[in-house]
Amino acid sequence: MIPTFVIATSLLAFPDFSRGYLLRDDYTQNNYAEFFSKFGFWTASDPTNGLVNYVSESAAWANGLIGNGGNIYLGVDHTNKPDVCGTWPAFWTTASSNDWPQEGEIDIKEEANNAQNNQMSLHISKTQGECVIRSDTSMIAARGRWGDCTEEDTRGCDANDPRTNSFGTGFNYNGGGVYAMEWKAEWVRIWVFPRSEIPSGASGPLGSSPDPSAWGTPTTSFESQHGADCNLSTHVRNQRIIIDTTFCGQWASGTWLISGCAASTGYSTCEAYVKDVPTAFRHAFWTINSVKTYD
Ligand SMILES: *[C@@H]1O[C@H](CO)[C@@H](O)[C@H](O)[C@H]1NC(C)=O
Repeated sequence: MIPTFVIATSLLAFPDFSRGYLLRDDYTQNNYAEFFSKFGFWTASDPTNGLVNYVSESAAWANGLIGNGGNIYLGVDHTNKPDVCGTWPAFWTTASSNDWPQEGEIDIKEEANNAQNNQMSLHISKTQGECVIRSDTSMIAARGRWGDCTEEDTRGCDANDPRTNSFGTGFNYNGGGVYAMEWKAEWVRIWVFPRSEIPSGASGPLGSSPDPSAWGTPTTSFESQHGADCNLSTHVRNQRIIIDTTFCGQWASGTWLISGCAASTGYSTCEAYVKDVPTAFRHAFWTINSVKTYD
């Protein structure tokens, strides 16, 4: 059988502001009961060709795939048949328009299979103008594809966090952490704070007026080279928050062999493994204490 999962999207708006952001939307902390009503549930086929059936909110409730007691839970169906080979989870933002990537995409947390390092990406279009991302800014992550991010395909720019507590098992065993993204005309920055390294106080990412200028070196900084020539408020628009788990698809199938998953599972393809061994995915879930937006 094919695992099922839910995908949730919600509209975001981030006007520019330099520091001391103010809370705009609190998707959880004050009312877990309303969390899922703030999102839409994607029920069409997976645009990334994953081996997955996305279900409606009512079907997700009926099958125990989502929950809101204590924290927010988004899981997958694993009961009808232990590692996480085959999964491709992501916490990201993009627009709902059909002509991706004209309105941009920011991938805050994403990887596939048994990855231990978070990958962060920026996808933008050349139609809004040339956009070169500087390579002289300080950041923790290693630059992967970099420079001109205006690729009209699945490429864009990306960076890899060298810390093994940024994703997957290492992140989970470390008690999770906080992912924060700042989107301005000049830059898109992402910070990944492992549990013990979350800046405290009002200016911290969990504080009452978060101030990214007080958070230290960003994990990734997509900062435009030419200022107004590469205005990331123009290249990136109408973003919605998306939280999803898919299986196989372009990424997890594409890296099945080199990730070592073929060897560790004994299955030559991601699809065969996911169909055969759904119990492997009892650990493939999200628990979320809060999702907040500020401007
Ligand atoms: C960037 O674009 C936004 C939206 O179009 C605009 O309000 C802002 O003034 C621009 N900023 C710069 C630095 O050009």
